[in-house]
Amino acid sequence: MKVLVLGSGGREHALAWRLSRDAKVSEVFVYPGNPGMKRTLKIQVVNAKVTFDLVSAFAKQNEIAYIVIGPEKYLFEGWVDQFQELGIPAYGPSKSASFLEESKIRSKQFMRDHQIQTADFEVAQTLEEANHIIETHPQWSGYVLKLSGPALGKGVIVTRTKEDAKKAAQDFFHFKPAGIEEGMVIENCVSGREVSLFYVCADQEYRFLASACDHKRLKNNDEGPNTGGMGAYSPASWFTDAQLQQVEELFVKPTLKGMADAETPFYGTLFLGLMVSGDELSLLEYNTRFGDPETQTFLPRIEGDFSDLLYSVASRNQNLFRKAEVNTSVLNSLHVVKAAKGYPGLFGEAIESQIPLTIMDNDSLWFYAGVKQSAIGGLETSGGRVCGVTTVAPTLNEARLMAYNSIRQVSFSGEQYRTDIGRPARGES
Ligand code: GLY
Repeated sequence: MKVLVLGSGGREHALAWRLSRDAKVSEVFVYPGNPGMKRTLKIQVVNAKVTFDLVSAFAKQNEIAYIVIGPEKYLFEGWVDQFQELGIPAYGPSKSASFLEESKIRSKQFMRDHQIQTADFEVAQTLEEANHIIETHPQWSGYVLKLSGPALGKGVIVTRTKEDAKKAAQDFFHFKPAGIEEGMVIENCVSGREVSLFYVCADQEYRFLASACDHKRLKNNDEGPNTGGMGAYSPASWFTDAQLQQVEELFVKPTLKGMADAETPFYGTLFLGLMVSGDELSLLEYNTRFGDPETQTFLPRIEGDFSDLLYSVASRNQNLFRKAEVNTSVLNSLHVVKAAKGYPGLFGEAIESQIPLTIMDNDSLWFYAGVKQSAIGGLETSGGRVCGVTTVAPTLNEARLMAYNSIRQVSFSGEQYRTDIGRPARGES
């Protein structure tokens, strides 16, 4: 069977790589992909404009069995629904179910309505409301301001004092970034250790894939600005099996039941961002797609017919979903991202591009993201996160040593990467 992965980053490269390993998958197309992906056997890159009509025409012409959607924006735009209407199975939630990630306001209200443990919060539509909320919650340990709306997945500011919170609210309402018209969530700042948990869901049935921990800050020791993720490791072995059981009862089942009851059954990846503090579990956020870079990290641990599992969800086939033979290995995996100079560019720094990559012969697992074909041959940088290496080993320590032993196999001038991926952050053990 032929499969199409929509997107162009490291997550999509990892998905395509993993799907390509299943015997029944003859070819994986990545649309629009990037030229670094061509280094993986069985992957074809469709270097074309991404519009719904073009992608669906390509899928029909090439007899694609199903489409796996990488980035959330296509979910929010309803591409899954549209593919399904054309008879093309597509993996991911419908537009109406993807509000769990798209709208911070609706998702927090959903948690409240379904008694899903999350930090206390209020919704502000105006600066006056925001100031009132901040003033009337002096007992909160800090204030997290989350913009709500499709373009704002990363619109989160964590503040400690009332003054800082009010200043941030004022800036948001003054500069009015896209999406602010939906308002913002202001919530109590909960502390602890974060874990990402991934479930493949078909209505009220689900399969746990893996836990992972993402390192979001640019620099070692969790310093520097927030990024899309500079590396990750899987599993989060400090997160116990008993806690995983609790998550199923307290978060996964009520979420899927709530979605089914609202006639927006959830099909696709339920990615829970949880805060863990001792025995306390609190849901920070839902995402409705695979994480980046967690996916590059944990997919090599997934054994069996991964393609069947995703196909069963895309084709809404509960029977196949139950039968799909997929397991998660007990091995540890780790992924280190290399980013371009200037990344993440939050404060107006230019992100350097067109820097040639030097790639040594190697058999390590490199996933490519921000790269393009250079006019003189080879690859050059074209984006913030450029590539990353994944290693798998019996212990996390071994995986880390292997990753950093391989780290020079792909290099470019100005590259930035952390040297402490997989090590606990300060205050964690
Ligand atoms: N690594 C976090 C995310 O994909 O949103």
